[in-house]
Amino acid sequence: MFFFLSSFFYRFENYKYKLLCYDKEENKYNSSSPEEAFLLKIMEKSSFSYETLKNKFESENLNFPESFFQLGLKNNWINRGTEKKDKNLEVLDDISFNDFKNFINRLPNTHYKTPLNVSFDITNYCNLNCMHCCNDSGANKDKTLTLDEILGVIDQCSDMKVFDVIFAGGEPFLRKDFFQILKYASGKIPKPTFSTNGSTIDEKSISQLKDIGIDRVQVSLDGFKETHDRIRGKRNYEDALNAIKLFAKNKFNTHVQTTVIKENIDEIPDLCSYLVENFEISKYKFTPLSVVGRASQEMKVGPEEYKQLYDEIIDLAFKYSKNSKSSVKTRLMFDYIGRNIPGSKDYVCEAFRECLSINYSGDVYPCSFLPIKIGNIREETIDEIWNKKSELVNELRTPHELRKSEKCSNCNCLPKCGTGCLANSYNLGKVLFGGDSYCWV
Ligand SMILES: C[S@@+](CC[C@H](N)C(=O)[O-])C[C@H]1O[C@@H](n2cnc3c(N)ncnc32)[C@H](O)[C@@H]1O
Ligand code: SF4
Ligand code: SF4
Repeated sequence: MFFFLSSFFYRFENYKYKLLCYDKEENKYNSSSPEEAFLLKIMEKSSFSYETLKNKFESENLNFPESFFQLGLKNNWINRGTEKKDKNLEVLDDISFNDFKNFINRLPNTHYKTPLNVSFDITNYCNLNCMHCCNDSGANKDKTLTLDEILGVIDQCSDMKVFDVIFAGGEPFLRKDFFQILKYASGKIPKPTFSTNGSTIDEKSISQLKDIGIDRVQVSLDGFKETHDRIRGKRNYEDALNAIKLFAKNKFNTHVQTTVIKENIDEIPDLCSYLVENFEISKYKFTPLSVVGRASQEMKVGPEEYKQLYDEIIDLAFKYSKNSKSSVKTRLMFDYIGRNIPGSKDYVCEAFRECLSINYSGDVYPCSFLPIKIGNIREETIDEIWNKKSELVNELRTPHELRKSEKCSNCNCLPKCGTGCLANSYNLGKVLFGGDSYCWV
């Protein structure tokens, strides 16, 4: 029996983790030890028997990472072959743990070497006209990417080992070729998913999505009926709730996402409890409004109100973590802003370090809420855009301690939060490191 590697689910990095592996069953990334990373590096060379792998570790005076090996088998990074003999034993002489550590250290340490998550707005067309829409979606626009261009982006994401592509828009289901796009993506990306307003979801689309193998979905819900329909448009509440019920009933990992604005902030804790207690959703998430697109500053809640909501939801998150299948999540960043939690990891805004966003015409942005164009996929590859040398790109990747501003320079939380969400600074003051506008410090 020999063992070989499927590269689909892991990548080497020198930013945050040395190695990232995607655990499909748990639907999360694992970071691994240098020894574990070394095992996969060896297996990239060729297929080897278990004995050969163990011998190689022994010759390097390293412990063999047995449980990681078993996890790899369970998650198909490591596959079993049936031939008995090792081939290419001589290639093992070319790799040493020291050389491997040098290889890792040469990778960028201010950002992932290729994006980990891509948010992809495949249309600007929408049947709703939500008051706060960050993309000002509605009418179909000229220059919308063609099917071939979209499949080309998916190919590039696959080559770059992007783990997570989230299709959005506009309303992605209004593209007639959306199922074709999802089917293509599901053969190339570990976690393709989408965000939907729920208006087109019915038994037929559910069964098509099942056939394609999509298992994680996001539906937007911005309040109970009256509030939701005021924000999103008449009768959408029923559609969105129906979509949530159908997805949950059919055992999708169903995430429900609320954008916090003045209109809905008071009912969010009740909405959270209602969803978690009545439907088998896997996650309830809320995120503060970004003042971009149709959103205005008047819609935005203040930092104190946001903190109060955050604290209430944390209590709910704790309550439901004990006795419910659903989890309740805030944007991770707010665990760091204003909270210098000893021993916790530093948080870094993900924009153009971990993620990027592509809009309906191929323009590339650091994230969906930061309207600073970095390039266009019709003119350059995504890899070229990711590796661009420009002042803006350098700025986005500035280490925490160099992020100075009147508000943040003397704050003892700076090493943890790195001035928070850059969009929440930029969209109000046109500076990146001015401090998150939801920060209550
Ligand atoms: C732009 S929509 C596109 C996908 C789909 N039409 C939907 O509504 O889910 C993607 C997500 O962004 C959220 N969103 C829209 N405008 C926003 C804003 N200004 N700030 C923060 N989130 C926003 C939406 O509520 C939705 O959850
Ligand atoms: S938030 Fe989604 S549903 Fe609402 S207008 Fe924007 S794209 Fe359409
Ligand atoms: S003042 Fe700045 S550094 Fe301090 S917690 Fe707020 S955003 Fe972070």
